Amino acid sequence: MIDPVRFLSNRSSGRLGYELAKAARRAGACVTLVSGPTALKPPPGVRLVPVVSARAMYRATLANAQQADVIICAAAVADWRPRFASRRKIKKVLCSRFEVRGSKFNLEHRTSHIALELVPNPDILATLGRRKRRGQYLVGFALESERLLENAWAKLRHKRCDCVIANPVPSIGAAKHRATLLFRNGRAERLPPLSKRVLAQRIIRIVWRKIATA
Ligand code: CTP
Repeated sequence: MIDPVRFLSNRSSGRLGYELAKAARRAGACVTLVSGPTALKPPPGVRLVPVVSARAMYRATLANAQQADVIICAAAVADWRPRFASRRKIKKVLCSRFEVRGSKFNLEHRTSHIALELVPNPDILATLGRRKRRGQYLVGFALESERLLENAWAKLRHKRCDCVIANPVPSIGAAKHRATLLFRNGRAERLPPLSKRVLAQRIIRIVWRKIATA
């Protein structure tokens, strides 16, 4: 939050996360969906845990992680938050009123620019990777504008994921996604362009298969 009427967000609609929750539920899983604010309706049969900030998502996810066999981190979590949130709306024109020898004056000052100081949010996926218990399967996403696979492999290693789904940035808002699934054993599976719904179903099917054969 910057002030009561402004906050930092990103271009994600959250739809892929909701489709994943729906597909997992349909595949028989008991699903908890930790979600930031969206315009989407939660899928039937899914337990929704609504959150409004990256830190709240961190707390809610960790509180629910221990009992989960599969954790899929599809949220586009804000990496940074403003260091200070103003309790009052930040105004473009600042007014000061003062009095000199009984005469009242108004001084107006138009702000030419403001600087936001940002501090990092906790990395939920990396924390889950460090705390992963035996038999738990951890899936992350990598959204990259360059060196997609190289960065995605690095994310898989650093965040100790079992699978990372690499997505090029142009897939934001696109009808079809060109995702590549990377696995801890070094193998990769490239999927054809798919809608969010079909991509979610494919991801769940692939992850279920991996768990069954683990
Ligand atoms: N993620 C997370 N917590 C964060 C940031 C990201 O859990 N504070 C998760 C996302 O849900 C995703 C994965 O980490 O599964 C990768 O997110 P991405 O935005 O691609 O990369 P970052 O880890 O944030 O690194 P960078 O922005 O430097 O590429």
